Amino acid sequence: MDYKLEMSPAEMRELGYRVVDLIADHFAQLPDKPVGAKGDPALLRPAFLAAPPAQPVPSGEILRRLEADVFSHILNIGHPRFFAFVPGPSNFVSAMADALASGFNVFNGSWLGGSAAAAVELAVIDWFRTWCGFPEEAGGLFVSGGSMANLTALVVARHTRLDDRTAGATIYYSDQTHSSIDRALRVIGFMPDQIRRIPSDDEFRLPLDALAARVAEDRAAGLRPFAVIANAGTTNTGAIDPLAEIAGFCEAEELWMHIDGAYGAAAVISDRGRRLLRGIDLADSLSFDPHKWLFQPIECGCVLLRDAQLLKKTYRIMPEYLADVHRNVAEVNPCDYGIQLTRGFRALKVWMSVQAFGMDAFRAAVERGFVLAEIAERKLRDMANWELVTPAQMGIVCFRRREAGEKFYPRLHDAMLRDGFALATSTVLNGKTALRLCTINPRTTEDDIENTLDWLDALSEPRP
Ligand SMILES: Cc1ncc(COP(=O)(O)O)c(C=O)c1O
Repeated sequence: MDYKLEMSPAEMRELGYRVVDLIADHFAQLPDKPVGAKGDPALLRPAFLAAPPAQPVPSGEILRRLEADVFSHILNIGHPRFFAFVPGPSNFVSAMADALASGFNVFNGSWLGGSAAAAVELAVIDWFRTWCGFPEEAGGLFVSGGSMANLTALVVARHTRLDDRTAGATIYYSDQTHSSIDRALRVIGFMPDQIRRIPSDDEFRLPLDALAARVAEDRAAGLRPFAVIANAGTTNTGAIDPLAEIAGFCEAEELWMHIDGAYGAAAVISDRGRRLLRGIDLADSLSFDPHKWLFQPIECGCVLLRDAQLLKKTYRIMPEYLADVHRNVAEVNPCDYGIQLTRGFRALKVWMSVQAFGMDAFRAAVERGFVLAEIAERKLRDMANWELVTPAQMGIVCFRRREAGEKFYPRLHDAMLRDGFALATSTVLNGKTALRLCTINPRTTEDDIENTLDWLDALSEPRP
């Protein structure tokens, strides 16, 4: 028994090399593997229910078991033919960065606990700030993902604009807005009758006239409109709300403007993305998810505030046991800017992968996402059995099987999973189900797109 939970350097190396081999093989072999598998709960849950072993299990056996029972029953969201939800293409360098952050168990909560980690985080946040065109005084921090970024920002909005008193306050966003916004508002005490989900226009964007009318109506009723949430790439169709126009309206009406760019904001690094996201620099707060279109492994989200001090005003609490942390004002403590005290070194993976590949590669990788969706759109226009629902937009294209009823889609989904060649998922647009391809994986080839659409066609005949 080793009560110190230690391994010899040789044992650590042996385990480490095997783990690296597994990960390297995973990346190398992914295109030839199934897109993933969903386990049957009746079989999979009992498979892991055994009591924890009192004695050590040899590491080779543990890894074999992981390969056989765990990694074979997940969706490979980095697979080049994984087009479902929002793919997570990730990259090997960032996976190694996660191993390093965990191996050194870097504490990224305070300057004292991990000064260089805080410095790296500040530097990477400054890259994001610059890419998004935010002013010098802007700043932010890494969080687990888009949901936490939205929550973190909305707490700042509530604190700054409402002094945390939500009675009578109202908030506005389109019906295409991600559910994490609804959840964040629930967490921070908003009732459904304070939330205005405004029907989107023909292009699934927030219509400014309807927004203005609703705000005016609420003001006339004695309510307190306080914030608008705009989308920089909706999950459903990639639609971008008219950001600059909404920003102008928010300024005139003294409303907080939050942009949910969890899906799309990373596209600002490309020329095309920057043009499409005009006005992103005008937000009071912005969610930005490197674990989506910036190719980082989960978990890696980010929140940016136009005025970083507002994060500090909202979150900083100085208990007696952190007196040594707070003594020096020149030191930046990430824990003062968000919800977590103990937090991992998420910035490392962005930093290390940008060093390893260079920004030109990242820009080209983002551009590829746009192009692949356009290839899919062109092919779909030539396919007799399918109709386009929304054109390629921010790496997303939506389409529908002609003359198929609503039961067609769940059956097609099951057939896709059974086959494993590729995966697309459905959504509902204007009350009708549509399939959706999200093409942000830069390792997806043109053949992958062509073959996936032909395969979908074949899988649909006779109707699955
Ligand atoms: C537009 C948008 N906002 C928020 C989220 C939530 O992000 P996360 O899943 O990282 O919490 C998503 C996830 O897909 C998204 O697409």
